[in-house]
Amino acid sequence: MTEWIPPSKRRKPIDLAALDVPAGRYILPDPTDFLVTPAGTNEGAARIHQYLNGNITLEEMQPAEADFVRQHFTQAAEEQRQKCITYFETKVPRRYITARPNQIATTWAQAVVANPDDTRSLLIVGPTGTGKTHYAYSVLRAIAETGAPTGWAAYTAADLYARLRPRTGRDSEAEFEAIADTDVLFVDDLAAAKLTEWTEEATYRLINHRYEQCKPGIFTSNVPPAQLRDALGERIASRLTEMCERVVLKGDDRRKGLAA
Ligand SMILES: Nc1ncnc2c1ncn2[C@@H]1O[C@H](COP(=O)(O)OP(=O)(O)OP(=O)(O)O)[C@@H](O)[C@H]1O
Ligand SMILES: [Mg+2]
Repeated sequence: MTEWIPPSKRRKPIDLAALDVPAGRYILPDPTDFLVTPAGTNEGAARIHQYLNGNITLEEMQPAEADFVRQHFTQAAEEQRQKCITYFETKVPRRYITARPNQIATTWAQAVVANPDDTRSLLIVGPTGTGKTHYAYSVLRAIAETGAPTGWAAYTAADLYARLRPRTGRDSEAEFEAIADTDVLFVDDLAAAKLTEWTEEATYRLINHRYEQCKPGIFTSNVPPAQLRDALGERIASRLTEMCERVVLKGDDRRKGLAA
């Protein structure tokens, strides 16, 4: 059994923002690795140890000691960022691996990471082939590039319904909860097919959960905004309108230009 430590004695969390690194679970530096020992004392290492235990602030250390701590966390944050990007690259569909975020996508991703409850979802609309899915994956890349441990999941609406359909041997309710609670949920191609009573209810439950919990998401649809109510039903469309910022993509079907 682990020893119970009273709250007053518990180590205060390290102020990662002061170190200019994103949230994350970092391995702490080993103070004995601090080699600058003025006059041959181990005062520096002792001060780093105190800092790591929350007993002194960054400013109360000598500049070289603060640099040692900063360097450790900067390096660890960069390793975490690379892991997020690698994870993204293993999950992104091959076609969209080259998608790169523009400034707007990057700003949204940074807001989501810093303030998930306060960032409106994205509803990307536009005709077939204008780049909605490409744009959405560029946003997910931007989230990965922040290096923050923000979870994300991506499904086409059709795949989502297939996953959520009750099947013997699968707990579809647990599956629903796991998907509905993802930090950032991307659902591609909403209303691509006419909703049945079942798909409408599944979409409603999902959107309503995200709406109630103020969780950010990315949704795409090639249904023009004015027809979204007809396509998705009043309850879903009304919630999407309130919870989403709209990104409107225009132009021709890019696939025509790409055809050999
Ligand atoms: N900004 C871009 N730069 C380069 N290629 C792009 C860009 N946006 C989209 N494409 C390419 O254009 C093609 C169509 O894009 P995408 O699949 O994102 O369209 P879509 O709007 O999601 O279409 P649909 O409504 O049929 O799902 C893809 O091959 C994609 O890689
Ligand atoms: Mg698409």
